[in-house]
Amino acid sequence: MGEHPFKILVLFYSFTGHTAKLAEYIAEGAREISGAEVVVKQVPEFIPQEAIDKHSEVKSAKETFAHIPQATIEDLTSADGVAFGTPVHFGSFASQLKQFIDQLSPAFVEGRLVGKPAACFVSAGSIHGGEEATLLSLMIPLLHLGMVPIGIPYPIQGAGPDFDAGSPYGAIFVSGHKGERPLSEGDRKIAKILGKRLAAMSKLIKYGCMNFPECQLLTTRYE
Ligand SMILES: Cc1cc2nc3c(=O)[nH]c(=O)nc-3n(C[C@H](O)[C@H](O)[C@H](O)COP(=O)(O)O)c2cc1C
Repeated sequence: MGEHPFKILVLFYSFTGHTAKLAEYIAEGAREISGAEVVVKQVPEFIPQEAIDKHSEVKSAKETFAHIPQATIEDLTSADGVAFGTPVHFGSFASQLKQFIDQLSPAFVEGRLVGKPAACFVSAGSIHGGEEATLLSLMIPLLHLGMVPIGIPYPIQGAGPDFDAGSPYGAIFVSGHKGERPLSEGDRKIAKILGKRLAAMSKLIKYGCMNFPECQLLTTRYE
């Protein structure tokens, strides 16, 4: 694991599996930074199983990522950096993820997430279906918690076909109206870059602060 281990949590909610697929590439990118201990977890579902069972397509889609463990609040607060993923639901992030984030009041009071990097990724049905609004709306509570936003600036994002993938605000997977679209090469590339940037900044903040006391200003209370 190297001399400088640090924890990255890739946390997502997914209804039909597309966000779960994007999460894999965020994790893959994060693992490229030495010392990264990367775990992928999903937030608990609150739709009753009997309601899901009535829709065979949703039921079988959910089974494709049911093996991914459920996250606890402790998983989140003990991570050094977190990627948050969600499907676009009416131009914003899924209520299941909001419900999870809303359990962070004790962590908020103790400042446990202050100074920790956060990145966001989304899956939507259509291009211009609210991806960027969702990425930005998801960053709002994370800023309240004191997290440091990580995006993907254009020079890194690249030109050509990659230019249409992702956003400066995070990674995007457009799955199509019927969920028929696979992840494009650009989607995967951008997701990996985002995961790598998240991990690099998490390592820098965790260990750079030991060398530069000014860095502690990111993580401690101002008197
Ligand atoms: C309640 C609900 C609302 C949705 N709203 C939008 C939307 O505003 N824009 C969009 O492009 N897709 C929308 N979709 C489609 C999903 O964002 C899309 O299928 C996404 O890829 C699903 O990701 P998942 O498989 O991880 O759940 C919506 C789907 C649901 C179930």
